[in-house]
Amino acid sequence: MARLTVTGGRPLSGSVRISGSKNASVAMIPAALLASGVSVLENVPEIVDVDVFGRILSQLGARVSREEGRGLVIDPNGFKTWEAPYELVKKLRASYYLLGVLLARFGRAEVALPGGCNIGLRPIDQHIKGFRALGAEVVLEHGVVKAWTKGKGLKGAPVYLDVVSVGATINIMLAAVLADGLTVIENAAKEPHVVNLANYLNSMGAKVQGAGTDVIRIKGVKRLTGSQHPVIPDEVEAATFMVAAAATGGDVLVTNVIPKHLDSVSAKLREAGVEVIENGDSVRVVGPGRPRAVNVKTLPYPGFPTDCQQVFAALMARADGISMIQETIYDNRFGYANELIRMGASIKVDGRTAIIEGVDRLFGAPVTAIDLRAGAAMVVAGLSAQGKTDVYGVDHIERGYERLVDKLVGLGAEVSLVK
Ligand code: EPZ
Repeated sequence: MARLTVTGGRPLSGSVRISGSKNASVAMIPAALLASGVSVLENVPEIVDVDVFGRILSQLGARVSREEGRGLVIDPNGFKTWEAPYELVKKLRASYYLLGVLLARFGRAEVALPGGCNIGLRPIDQHIKGFRALGAEVVLEHGVVKAWTKGKGLKGAPVYLDVVSVGATINIMLAAVLADGLTVIENAAKEPHVVNLANYLNSMGAKVQGAGTDVIRIKGVKRLTGSQHPVIPDEVEAATFMVAAAATGGDVLVTNVIPKHLDSVSAKLREAGVEVIENGDSVRVVGPGRPRAVNVKTLPYPGFPTDCQQVFAALMARADGISMIQETIYDNRFGYANELIRMGASIKVDGRTAIIEGVDRLFGAPVTAIDLRAGAAMVVAGLSAQGKTDVYGVDHIERGYERLVDKLVGLGAEVSLVK
């Protein structure tokens, strides 16, 4: 079975360049299908989730290729079908963005309910509420979401989201850009990749205003053209390296980041006694011998990201004192705690709260990455532990981290992929 073997105890040092954002890429790739011409997305990471989405688009009839020095080239001509069956979409949660895109393009969509990380219930009622507000009929039949418009297609409308949902905000934006009239999304998600997508759509000729605030106004246009647009740096990958530097008492320059997107993580690291120095598009992180225990509560952006609490827990496992991590976004995102306990961590989980009593040292052990971010936590724990940690479930990690082993080795870590 493939595993990552990590020998801990070496402080990370040097510099690491952060790749493009996974979650921005998986929204922008399907968005390219809304245009009548070719788009080129720059800085798209080479990760499994991107490959899978590329294959989904190819099977729907679009042409997707990577061109050296240009980026991911997506030609939507040839894209003709409104059906995305389970075999195609099961591996990727973000395939639900095809619902918004297909509805916008064809007034009809049939997309199987997607897969993705198993981190608790992940309903899509808010996406459906949005499509219905825009005039679509939506039913769920045999695991497939079927949506269609009657008459003249989607019509702009106000949509109030009951929960702040990144996915629903993006999907409604995708559906609304070609709708007739004005759509206003209230209580919208403000994550950086929502803004990245809005900027890409606008570069294609869309009229999206207010992305990054909780009210997004989308004035429908008749057609969109292809465009060349960059994907923002991945803030979760950046946070992972920042926390890894802190956990190993290292000194790492994390480059190609937007420090503003990392404010909540930097603030918590500083509270824990870690030095975080911002300089342009990089941050330098200098870890202390042992971090102080701090409490974390996950919240929608600009709060502390749910995708970063796992690596933070790995850091807190060795902190001086007791820390509390509250997860407010998902109902089951502490599955990794059992794995950290195998390495000597002292963690109690009570519902959506993990209480971590810092220990002097963690010990290497065989552990399993039960999902993507849990996998990152195992690697960070392994880097700061004594001895060898074998991390199984590598496929989860490869979904979202580009060249993780090479990047860690470049920072002096002893890590290898055993196939
Ligand atoms: C996105 O998931 C990310 N995925 C997740 O990244 C991330 O954890 C999450 O946003 C929160 O930041 C992608 O961008 C592909 P949500 P998404 O809709 O859009 C509830 C990672 O590791 N909700 O913002 O699916 C939902 O159950 C991951 O990279 C509804 O109730 O998340 C959750 O409690 C995993 N009804 C909360 O809202 C809905 O219709 C936030 O979910 C939609 C969501």
